[in-house]
Parts: sequence; C-alpha cells; structure tokens
Amino acid sequence: MSDKEKPKNSKQSSNIWGGRFTGTPSDLMRKINASISFDKRLYNEDIDGSLAHVKMLAKQKIVTKDELEKITKGLKIIREEINQGKFKFDNNLEDIHMNIEARLRKLIGPQAGKLHTARSRNDQIATDLRMWTKKAIISLIKEIQNIQKALINKAELNIDTIMPGFTHMQIAQPITFGHYLMAYVEMFGRDLSRYNDCLKRLDENPLGSAALAGTSFPIDRFETTKTLNFNKPTTNSIDAVSDRDFIVEFLSITSLTSIHLSRLSEEIIIWSSDLFNFIKLTDDFTTGSSIMPQKRNPDAAELVRGKSGRILGSLVSILTILKGLPLSYSKDLQEDKEGLFDAFDSIHLMLLATKGMISSLIVNKSSMLSSLNNGFPTATDLADILVKTLNIPFREAHLISGKAVKIAEKMKCKLEEIPIKTFQKIEQRINKDIIDALSIEKSVNSKTSYGGTAPKEVKKQINKAKKRYL
Ligand code: ARG
Repeated sequence: MSDKEKPKNSKQSSNIWGGRFTGTPSDLMRKINASISFDKRLYNEDIDGSLAHVKMLAKQKIVTKDELEKITKGLKIIREEINQGKFKFDNNLEDIHMNIEARLRKLIGPQAGKLHTARSRNDQIATDLRMWTKKAIISLIKEIQNIQKALINKAELNIDTIMPGFTHMQIAQPITFGHYLMAYVEMFGRDLSRYNDCLKRLDENPLGSAALAGTSFPIDRFETTKTLNFNKPTTNSIDAVSDRDFIVEFLSITSLTSIHLSRLSEEIIIWSSDLFNFIKLTDDFTTGSSIMPQKRNPDAAELVRGKSGRILGSLVSILTILKGLPLSYSKDLQEDKEGLFDAFDSIHLMLLATKGMISSLIVNKSSMLSSLNNGFPTATDLADILVKTLNIPFREAHLISGKAVKIAEKMKCKLEEIPIKTFQKIEQRINKDIIDALSIEKSVNSKTSYGGTAPKEVKKQINKAKKRYL
C-alpha cells in the first residue's frame, strides 16, 4: 500500500468485524456507536438466545457436540460473572453481543467464533428485545392487578361513602366513593387487555432471520422458538430484523396507562388539598416543605403525574425513529432501547407508588358529605321525580327544577329546605313526598341502573371485577 493510500489511523483494526478495515474507528465514532452502557441490561436475554441458538446448531450438526459443550459452559460462566458484578464491560466492544462474544473467546478460545454461525446481531437484538419486552409486560400486568386489588379493597370499604360527583369540575350529582374508585378499576382493566393483546402479537421469534435474508445453513427455527418459549417463528426475515412495532405498541399502551395514573394522581392531589379535604395521604406518601412548616405535599402523586411526560416522549421518539426508515436494519434502531427501558422503569415505579397511596389513604367521610351542601346536587333528582310522579315531560320538569334552584340560591338554603308553599308556586302538585325524596342518601340509593352509583349496584360491580381481574 502506498503512503497516499494509507489511512491516517493505520493500526490494524482489532474489532470483531475488522477484517476488511485497515484503520480503526475514531474515538468519536466509538462513542456514538457504543450502546453497551444501556444494552447491558439485555445480558440475560442475550445469553438465553445464544444458548438456544448453539443448542440448535449442534442438533442440526452445524457445530460439534464438543463445541456446544464449551460454548454453553462459557456462556454460563459469563452470566455468573455479570450477575456477580465481576464482568468488565468494554465500550470499545460496542454492545452487549460483542462484549459477551469477546469474553467467550477469552474463556474458550477461537471455538467461540462458531456461536455466530447462521445469525447476525440484527436478528439477535430483535430476539433479545422481544424477550425483554415480554417479561416487562408480564411484570406490569401483575402490578396493574395489584393496583386493581387496592382500588377494589378501598371501594369495598367505601361502598356507601357519599361524595359529590363532578362534571366540568362542578358538583353534579351525589355518588359513592366506592363507585368512583371502581371507575379506575375499569380503566386499568382496559390497560390489562391491551397489554395482553400486545403480548400475543409480539410472541414471535426473529432468531435465524440472520442479517436480513435468512441463512443457507440448515437451521431449525422452530427448535429455537420452542427453547425460547416463543409462540412461533417470525414469517419474513426482512420484516423480522426491521420490526419494532412491538416497542411502539408497548410504549403506546404504557403511555395510556401512565395517563390513567396521571388522572388518578390529579384527583388525589385535588382531594387532599385543604380546600377539598376529602382524603388524607399518610406520611409515607407525603413530604414536607423546607420553608412552610405546615405543609404536607402530595409529591408522590405529583411525580406520577409528571413522569407520564417522559413516557409520552419515548413513544414519540420511537415513532420518529421509525418514520422514513428503509428496510431492513439501520443503526437508528439502536436508539429504540433507552426510551423503552426508561418507560418501563417509570411506569413500574408509578404503579407501585399509586398502589401505595391508594391502600394507605385515609377517607374523610364527613368532609365529602358536607361538601354536598353546595351546588344543589339533587336538582336532577327533583326533575326525575316530577317526571315519575306527576307525568311531566322531562324538559318541562328540568325547567321547574331550575326555577327551584334559583329560589334556593336566593334563599341560601338547600332544595329540600324551600318551604312547600314556595315550591307549589312553581308547580302546585309538588307535595311533601316529593320534597323528602330530595335527600342526598335517597338520591344515591335511587341510582340502581346497571353500572350506577347505588351501593347495591356498586357491590355487584365489585363482585364482577373481582372475578374478572383478580
Ligand atoms: N447494538 C445494535 C442495536 O442495538 C445491535 C445490532 C447491530 N447490528 C449491526 N449490523 N450493526 O441495534
């Protein structure tokens, strides 16, 4: 090679892929290329994938029994080293796959190179990520069920705890706290079904797709599929190494779950404020202020609400990475991991903290009830009773009830405290029975429609939810 042709950095490349190179990558190149700082988290999946792969290679007589034994033993030693924190991860070795392979070579010699027969890092990483995401979903499903359990337990204790229900954040109608909590059980139930659905779709094994085209070696993809506990092998090798739909699905479900948690947190924050005083968060889920000694801040709820932001960010990130990305593998895909891991860690913590807050919160029943002295929450009941007892069309009954509200507002009293004579000036057939039915308790007990707020109905919802989710 003439001096002119020689690259500046002319040390022979020491990289695993360095055969066709004369120089070595610059420090900057190494830095932008390295993913080991975050993908080391996939070491268990990576080793499981390698163990399954080499077992299949031996069964298909692509490697010898002796090679199988050595490689298997080496991989198990590496797993132990990593478990015990003894493994030295090397940035120069780019990623988890090469770190493990390089160590294997040190442990067993050149036979380590046989492990990479009939596979590529492209199908390897797709396989690792699917395995990791499967486990992540299974653990989130468990935590969502735990939240549902906490909500159901609290709901059972508050089946007839009366509180105002809101629309437009204005007092609307009396409801029970049990009913309210069960609304969140339904939300999380839909999250569960979405995670289960995602799990079914991602349960395919990309291993053996190799770089993108498949391989000429006589591999058995059904064998590794069985060993790795996947449902079936992926159908198209090009799709298999390019596809990150399962991460998009995971992040969109996780985003929605985080939004549910954020809404619940918002309620917790409002309810626990001095102005509402519906609930009290215990000391284990509140913090003090460094300046205002009286403060009890709902920081856990605020952080749950805040963390939903970063999860949405990860969803936008993966969608943007995939947009316009040609088939098949491009290094852009390496950017799929940090958002995925961060979203999992965040949602996991959010679920645990929310479960803790729900189980421990103290309900201030008298405050919930007395807040119903405002806002004429039984005005709709009055209209309904007029329809039922006097056969007045609902629209007309609505007007009559509205007039009664106007009077009560002027008199600064509750609807049922308006003198009967005054009531009869609006509609002369109004009698004592009608006025008596305007009590908060009667209002709540009367909402017996399927899914309604009457304690008897809430009890049915609870029983059904227990069977469905727990
Ligand atoms: N570290 C890579 C990633 O996370 C693994 C696959 C690399 N493949 C390649 N041909 N460079 O996506």
